[in-house]
Amino acid sequence: MSMNTRRIRAASIFALILFHPLVSFSQDQCRTCHESIEDPRALAFAADIHASNGISCADCHGGDRTKEDMEEGMSAGAGFRGVPVGDAISDVCASCHSDASKMVHVYKSTLPLDQVEALKASVHGQQSVSGRSRIAQCTSCHGAHGILPRSNRKSPVHPANVPTTCARCHSNAGYMTAYDPSMPVDQYQKYRSSVHGKLNQRGDSKVAECASCHGSHDILAAKDVRSKVYPINLPATCGSCHADAVYMRGYGIGTDQLKEYSKSVHGVALLQKHDIGAPACNDCHGNHGAVPPGVESISKVCGSCHALNADLFSKSPHKKAFDTRGLPECETCHGNHEVVRTTDQLLGVGKEAVCAWCHKDDTKSRGHIVAATMRQLADSLADAEDSAQRLLNDAEQKGMEVGEARFAARSIRQARLESRTKVHSFQESQFRDVVEKGLSAAKDVSAQAEEAIGEYHFRRWGLLIASFAITLLAVSLYLLIRRIESRQRAK
Ligand code: HEC
Ligand code: HEC
Ligand code: HEC
Ligand code: HEC
Ligand code: HEC
Ligand code: HEC
Ligand code: HEC
Ligand code: HEC
Ligand code: HEC
Ligand code: HEC
Ligand code: HEC
Repeated sequence: MSMNTRRIRAASIFALILFHPLVSFSQDQCRTCHESIEDPRALAFAADIHASNGISCADCHGGDRTKEDMEEGMSAGAGFRGVPVGDAISDVCASCHSDASKMVHVYKSTLPLDQVEALKASVHGQQSVSGRSRIAQCTSCHGAHGILPRSNRKSPVHPANVPTTCARCHSNAGYMTAYDPSMPVDQYQKYRSSVHGKLNQRGDSKVAECASCHGSHDILAAKDVRSKVYPINLPATCGSCHADAVYMRGYGIGTDQLKEYSKSVHGVALLQKHDIGAPACNDCHGNHGAVPPGVESISKVCGSCHALNADLFSKSPHKKAFDTRGLPECETCHGNHEVVRTTDQLLGVGKEAVCAWCHKDDTKSRGHIVAATMRQLADSLADAEDSAQRLLNDAEQKGMEVGEARFAARSIRQARLESRTKVHSFQESQFRDVVEKGLSAAKDVSAQAEEAIGEYHFRRWGLLIASFAITLLAVSLYLLIRRIESRQRAK
């Protein structure tokens, strides 16, 4: 053994003694004295994760822990800093939690080192109304003495306790108004009414709580495009649990919602076209009251955007028929997560028609007859539009001016769109009215296009006759000149 290694070994044994918790405790005069005077901070500290890592009062407050004398230990000369206030609080935590040389090398911790930076950049890192410090310090959510690891059931950041920890500020109307009078303070209350909130209260720590959807240190305003709850990012946030079959095992619900949604007309519009008018998960399930919309409320959910469809449905013969059979209103025909773009194929009693699911067999029933008639009407309008468009194209190719007729053709399109919505009245007369409006517009447009084409032919004949006449004239002129010339030569 070389001299050097021996020295290193001696040094490490010395260090081990110095830093060993039990040794440190015995030398920690701060704790000894403060415990003896029953300082509630010192009593709470006994269970603190920092205490069990050999950390002392002096690591946060400064001072000399080896001094039995209060004046000496708590003197400025010994580095005593007193009680930190404002941003200085988080600076104390940062002195270890942002410092790999301490956390990794001294304490052998594998915790991430980004909490302080993340908190500063978060919505809680903004200036508080006092203007003297940030809105939240580390202690706002973790406390200062008696800090526990997140996995401890009693920790304020254990999933079971996060909702009340956040609610201390967010349900405090007096406090929140100072920041934003329009900021709702009902998140906790709504959350408790949701499937997530109820199971959380019963001790299920796998369901979503505030931090699963918003993050913890990196929370951003909902309207911030980087926020976990910004519409475009939200499906992935919900999907982090709901699309994870292993995580969701034992709950007995599917894990295909995100997959189906991403393929749906809504998912494509939001996630690919970035159309934030299209619904994300929360537009149908609520932000904090995450429940599957029940049978009665589905049309309300869909109707918040598709108001006309919902209104027609509620006055249709299906309203009562579906309600009494416990069928969900829109979902029965369109599904929920897999809503796809619709076509006329869905109408009628054919193979792809949704009406056929219920109205196929009894061919004499009114439902069957109306479904078949609606499809015929829809097809005839589609055909009429096609042929009007073909005539317009034909006329245009022939160089005829049909701008006005083109404009009028828009009302055929309009009628088609309207008819697709009117399907939801499930009444032949209402549907027929719109279709007939479209058919008569198509008739007008076709007539105008035909007239333009007729005009073209008329002009072509006119041109032919005119050129024939001109040629005739030219030939006779020529002959006349020849005759005059030969007459002159003869003279
Ligand atoms: C011999 C007993 C004793 C020792 C040793 C001692 N303290 Fe104190 N400490 C007290 C008492 C008593 C008070 C309350 C004094 C007061 O109210 O002004 C106090 C107050 C404090 C305060 C609150 C100061 C304030 O401004 O409100 C802090 C923080 C503190 N001690 C930390 C420490 C730290 C850190 C150490 C070790 C370096 C330490 N104490 C060592 C007895 C002690
Ligand atoms: C992990 C850091 C940390 C440790 C360790 C720590 N404190 Fe503190 N202490 C703080 C912070 C931060 C504050 C001020 C903010 C607060 O109370 O929320 C504080 C406040 C105090 C106060 C003032 C309370 C008040 O309301 O004015 C006293 C007294 C105190 N600590 C004593 C102690 C004693 C004694 C110990 C050791 C048994 C100790 N602290 C260990 C961080 C710590
Ligand atoms: C708005 C509340 C809030 C504030 C403020 C806050 N935390 Fe946390 N912290 C949490 C929650 C919730 C968790 C547990 C969930 C998680 O880690 O995402 C947590 C977890 C932690 C963990 C464990 C991380 C892990 O990955 O296991 C550490 C360490 C931590 N916080 C330190 C800090 C420090 C240091 C600060 C100050 C810079 C701070 N926290 C400020 C809410 C907060
Ligand atoms: C002297 C260094 C030091 C200071 C100062 C310090 N911590 Fe720690 N902290 C640690 C160590 C070491 C651990 C345990 C690491 C481990 O278990 O991997 C820890 C653990 C934690 C945990 C538990 C993380 C988890 O879920 O496992 C939280 C929360 C925490 N600290 C918050 C704070 C807060 C808040 C402050 C400031 C008031 C603070 N710490 C100040 C060193 C420190
Ligand atoms: C110390 C009080 C406090 C605590 C604790 C707290 N917040 Fe906040 N939070 C605020 C304040 C104040 C705002 C800023 C309001 C503003 O600027 O309009 C805010 C803003 C937010 C916002 C942004 C709201 C928006 O869209 O504009 C979210 C989300 C949020 N907090 C979630 C949480 C969650 C989740 C927790 C718990 C992990 C939490 N907060 C803990 C005080 C707090
Ligand atoms: C299941 C996910 C989820 C959970 C759990 C959740 N939130 Fe939210 N939160 C959202 C969504 C989504 C929004 C709204 C985004 C938007 O407006 O587009 C939101 C918005 C907010 C806002 C902005 C103001 C508002 O109400 O619109 C605050 C503040 C907030 N949440 C706090 C909390 C608190 C506190 C908790 C826990 C009690 C919590 N949230 C639990 C998803 C969640
Ligand atoms: C942290 C994981 C997690 C996150 C994030 C999460 N959930 Fe959940 N959710 C669950 C668990 C676990 C259940 C409980 C399943 C059950 O028993 O119903 C649940 C239940 C539900 C239910 C009730 C299902 C039923 O039929 O009982 C709905 C709806 C739901 N979540 C929607 C959402 C939405 C929307 C989001 C995003 C805004 C979301 N969840 C985010 C874990 C999560
Ligand atoms: C267009 C509205 C809509 C959107 C968007 C939506 N859902 Fe749903 N969701 C529903 C309806 C409707 C139900 C079924 C309710 C019923 O049958 O009682 C449902 C049911 C659920 C259930 C219960 C279990 C199941 O599969 O039936 C979960 C969990 C769920 N949705 C999660 C999500 C998640 C996660 C997202 C986003 C990726 C999402 N939903 C997007 C409308 C929607
Ligand atoms: C937040 C508003 C919103 C909600 C809620 C909503 N939708 Fe939509 N929906 C849209 C938008 C926007 C589009 C158009 C997307 C596109 O064309 O790219 C659309 C498209 C559709 C389409 C396809 C239309 C077509 O042209 O074929 C159907 C069908 C549909 N939604 C049904 C539903 C049903 C059923 C529900 C309830 C379970 C629902 N929607 C909830 C906004 C919404
Ligand atoms: C009985 C089946 C059925 C029910 C119930 C139903 N729809 Fe439809 N829906 C259809 C059919 C069929 C079409 C396609 C019509 C076409 O293209 O000719 C359609 C088309 C649509 C379209 C695209 C056309 C348009 O209006 O823009 C939307 C959006 C739509 N439905 C929404 C809803 C909503 C919202 C509800 C619930 C209030 C609902 N549907 C209930 C059968 C149904
Ligand atoms: C989920 C089953 C279901 C689907 C799908 C469905 N219907 Fe119905 N429909 C019913 C029930 C049930 C009634 C009421 C009982 C009856 O008369 O058959 C009804 C009644 C009707 C009626 C009124 C009959 C009367 O006696 O006045 C019409 C019209 C109708 N449906 C048309 C349609 C059309 C068109 C479609 C396709 C777009 C369609 N239905 C799709 C179940 C369905």
